[in-house]
Amino acid sequence: MTLQEMNARFGREGRVAVVEGRNGLPKIQLSHPGGAKAEVYLHGAHVTSWKAAGDRELFFISKESHFEAGKPIRGGIPVIFPQFGGGPLPQHGLARINSWTLTESSVGRGSSTCVTLKLCDTEATRALWPFAFDLTYQVVLGDTYNMDNALTLIMTVKNSGDKAFPFKAALHTYFGLPDIRRAAVLGLTGVTYVDSLRNNVREPEKRPEIFFERETDRIYCAGPDRVAIRDDARNCFMAIEKDGMPDYVVWNPWIDKAKRMPDFGDDEWPFMLCVETGIIDAPRDLKPGESWTGRTTLRDTTALTPLWLERKWEFKGR
Ligand code: BG6
Repeated sequence: MTLQEMNARFGREGRVAVVEGRNGLPKIQLSHPGGAKAEVYLHGAHVTSWKAAGDRELFFISKESHFEAGKPIRGGIPVIFPQFGGGPLPQHGLARINSWTLTESSVGRGSSTCVTLKLCDTEATRALWPFAFDLTYQVVLGDTYNMDNALTLIMTVKNSGDKAFPFKAALHTYFGLPDIRRAAVLGLTGVTYVDSLRNNVREPEKRPEIFFERETDRIYCAGPDRVAIRDDARNCFMAIEKDGMPDYVVWNPWIDKAKRMPDFGDDEWPFMLCVETGIIDAPRDLKPGESWTGRTTLRDTTALTPLWLERKWEFKGR
């Protein structure tokens, strides 16, 4: 579909537009009446930008990132499926390196702005991974309560074939920070992590606040559905709420690994922190016809209220 055709079908005045992004790749622009904005590339269904109130960019994108068919974008929210990390498939799977299709746009009850993208198996994906799948990804800017500081991502995996398959899936979110040395992750105390930098040792997290002073690459297994990043440089929080996704990954490459990554600037490591949500530790099995849905909501906020900390998060629909 051309940009004009996509705009004719899915464009919504002042809310959803499809434009030419970097290197001519199609990009969807979402706007919320409260002023928030987000951008999603069809390539990888990749959210590359999110600005809540105040026009501050909340995601990190490397200045060295590729914006090219077949290559992942470094930053924003890479969608990981069906493999996490290395293995027989390309690193982190097939979803982030394929072009998705825009299938729906809507303006919700609580005046959220939403787009839906899809990715199904093709001859090329089946040559690498011999299963039929149907991925749906919804990006919702704003929420039911008309809060323009929220971004919700809903991922559904359906087994559309006749063979069961195991899969992992994640939203590999790169949060932007002024300085990771002045940030901490809260809410993971007592959770068992797998430390991939120490032979995948499994240990409980003892720290009430996870600070950063070296390379970090850990899977926190079956973590609580609410954690937060506290940004002491800006005096604010990024609240991360998940549902249906058991695990987190906390990752920063630090100095040496940053130098080894060709699509990441040597000096960019202080400005990002990945807190990823998904099925990451152990794979899930999906039988023919079955589907799985996982959600993550991110909230840019100046305070974590006692209500937020206590409430079991439930997604109330759009
Ligand atoms: C993280 C992994 O999720 O992704 C790290 O835990 C990895 O080990 C990082 O280095 C980045 O992966 P990639 O493929 O985008 O360079």
